[in-house]
Amino acid sequence: MFDPNQIRKDFPILGQKVNGKPLVYLDSGATAQKPECVIEAVNRVHREQNANIHRGVHHLSEQATALYEQARDDIRRFIGAAAREEVIFTAGATASINTVAYAWGERFLSQGDNIIISEMEHHSNIVPWQLIAQRKGVEIRVLPFDDKGSLRVELLDSLLDDRTRLVAVTQASNTLGTRPDLKPIIAKAHDVGAVVMVDGCQGVVHGGVNVEELGCDFYAFSGHKLYGPTGIGVLYGKQSILEQMPPFMCGGDMVDRVSFERTTYAPLPLKFEAGTANYVGAIGLGEAVRYLAGLDLAAVEAYETSLLKYGEQLLSSVDGLRIYGQSEDKCSILSFNVEGVHHYDLGMILDKLGIAVRTGQHCAEPVMTHYGVTGMCRASIAMYNTPEEMEALHRGVERAVKMLR
Ligand code: ALA
Repeated sequence: MFDPNQIRKDFPILGQKVNGKPLVYLDSGATAQKPECVIEAVNRVHREQNANIHRGVHHLSEQATALYEQARDDIRRFIGAAAREEVIFTAGATASINTVAYAWGERFLSQGDNIIISEMEHHSNIVPWQLIAQRKGVEIRVLPFDDKGSLRVELLDSLLDDRTRLVAVTQASNTLGTRPDLKPIIAKAHDVGAVVMVDGCQGVVHGGVNVEELGCDFYAFSGHKLYGPTGIGVLYGKQSILEQMPPFMCGGDMVDRVSFERTTYAPLPLKFEAGTANYVGAIGLGEAVRYLAGLDLAAVEAYETSLLKYGEQLLSSVDGLRIYGQSEDKCSILSFNVEGVHHYDLGMILDKLGIAVRTGQHCAEPVMTHYGVTGMCRASIAMYNTPEEMEALHRGVERAVKMLR
């Protein structure tokens, strides 16, 4: 049996009080809290192991390099990538997607092509495509979702054609929680010769991924949402595609030979890791995935889903409350609004009660536009949350609504 109270002991921040009330942290979708082992791994690098990687013959540099490359191996295993060359460290999912948009887009897009983006994407899986599309004369097509929050995959055939070069889709919506059925999307995209970019930010946390089995061409996620440090993330790409892409950022560590006449590039994965890498972050992220690999992730996922259902059931009794995102396969993200109450005011009062939720557009304005709202409250549930915290959220919302109406 999964025991959240045991897990909570690993997360020192959760023991604190906010505004005199026990902290109820329901904003893990924005950033997850860190277990002691990750905090300690980051401290240990700074205290005992710090030196620049891939650059020194001295002991500390070799040690830091080995830890960095060990993190890559552990992450490769965690996401089921076939080769370590396919795991590129970036500053986060945004940097990962921008890398693909620029480097892949530069090489593979031309005037008259089209890119399909799902309507439920986070801005970071929309805007980079718009920029490269503008530069290259490429059309953006949108795959819509229905009011329940399910992606209308049945419409994909009508959007795909032989000029479709890429489909950008999330594994789990950060706002609706929806987990679209990715396999048919990937199969259909591949049938017309398009590649698929999957935003795995929430998906990798809730249910995990095996990129080989999924068959996507690119997969991006951020470390800080996966219980790791901020400023570090991963771009997975199929080796055969990454090899054909030009570098994106250029500088130290991504080169083979440099002269003023001609420069050649380092082999994968370093070709895409210019400059001094965030090796401290990568080592911390490696620790986070080792921590997760030590848990029964299926049990974690089942537990989070049970909390989501419990939270939905409790909140449904609040007069005028609407939950957004009711698709069949949904991860533990609970977005809602209450009639006559501004999401921001609701979030402020919940904060006074020690409850942290996110308010606003969640970097997914097209989702807000779909429902005709300016924002939502979002409780994003992690493995360290408890049924008592769902009850606190429910009580808090009831109280806030009474005050605000
Ligand atoms: N993209 C993050 C979120 O969903 C910050 O909250």
